[in-house]
Amino acid sequence: MKNIIITGGAGFIGSHVVRLFVNKYPDYHIVNVDKLTYAGNLANLKDIENKPNYTFEKADICDFETIMDIFKKYNIDGVIHLAAESHVDRSIKDPFTFAKTNVIGTLSLLQAAKLSWNGDWEGKRFYHISTDEVYGALEFDGTLFTEETRYNPHSPYSASKASSDHFVRAFHDTYGMPTIVTNCSNNYGPYQFPEKLIPLFINNIRHKKPLPVYGKGENVRDWLYVEDHARAIDLIFHKGKIAETYNIGGFNEWKNIDLIKVIINTVDRLLGRKEGEDLNLITFVTDRAGHDMRYAIDSTKLHEELGWEPSLQFEEGIEKTVKWYLENQAWMDNVTSGDYQKYYEEMYDKR
Ligand code: NAD
Ligand code: TYD
Repeated sequence: MKNIIITGGAGFIGSHVVRLFVNKYPDYHIVNVDKLTYAGNLANLKDIENKPNYTFEKADICDFETIMDIFKKYNIDGVIHLAAESHVDRSIKDPFTFAKTNVIGTLSLLQAAKLSWNGDWEGKRFYHISTDEVYGALEFDGTLFTEETRYNPHSPYSASKASSDHFVRAFHDTYGMPTIVTNCSNNYGPYQFPEKLIPLFINNIRHKKPLPVYGKGENVRDWLYVEDHARAIDLIFHKGKIAETYNIGGFNEWKNIDLIKVIINTVDRLLGRKEGEDLNLITFVTDRAGHDMRYAIDSTKLHEELGWEPSLQFEEGIEKTVKWYLENQAWMDNVTSGDYQKYYEEMYDKR
């Protein structure tokens, strides 16, 4: 496989996947297809933007004609699809945009791949990146999401991702397209847009702004360092079985409030403040509507079949992440300027 589209390559996870592929596979041509929404930022890819095996195409995945042109222009034989609207809170305010990008956008890519490949599936692959949120919410009973867990999405975001997963599988079952779907737990690390919990809170602590904790902070998420997700994507793209689903996660569950305390202590220590001095920034606010209580992934299949496991301990990952945000204030200022700041203040005022 030589010519690969990575969609959403200017976003958080996509930029790590693009970087890994461009650096690791000099004989692949990586075409990053991204609309550059508020969440997409070419500054995430400064270090590789001039590499000869990398091309950026600014395009909306919903624009079928343009996607067809890109397939033809680069003779595409592989797709790694990450482009999506990805923030649950935004999906609650504006579900249509989520249905459009996540469902219609995915369908548009599938259809472009189908027409371009025209039944010649040899050496082709359509790899769709999804989320554990499609499985719904778990109780505090130690159970984990497996690949067999019934889909039960609760937010417009997870409903749109669930729908896109179904379309991908339907293209395999109906047309024989070589597809793979993976469902990953919450990612954290550099270049995450600061509307998500970890970068938002690091930035707020730095500026001594309140930390809006939804409900009682008792919800549980399973956190994976983003480069470990990118490594899993590389492995599965090359070695995963066609038509399979793989769950990706680090067996690393944290109750929000406990995680937030770790972040506060780490930021305080790295800024030379008294450890815990900013605990008083914690502000309990109205809970998110339909807030899923607990996510936790069982990634045994991926470990047993392909030998993947996370490389970083959580303490190490958080330390690296906090350091990165503190050292890259210019990146943070750039992405939090203008429209985003207005949006955030509106959201926060309403809670
Ligand atoms: P992100 O919001 O940081 O980035 C999304 C990227 O997609 C942006 O660059 C944006 O410009 C682009 N995009 C959005 N709409 C587009 C469109 N119509 N056409 C072309 N490009 C468009 O998202 P992320 O956190 O990096 O997530 C990437 C993927 O991984 C998503 O599919 C998401 O559902 C999935 N995922 C994310 C997590 C997580 O914790 N962040 C966990 C599991 C799965
Ligand atoms: P988030 O990063 O939005 O990811 P997701 O909703 O996809 O899991 O949120 C992670 C957890 O943190 C989730 O339980 C919601 C909670 N949260 C807050 O308590 N306050 C916030 O300001 C945000 C953004 C999230």
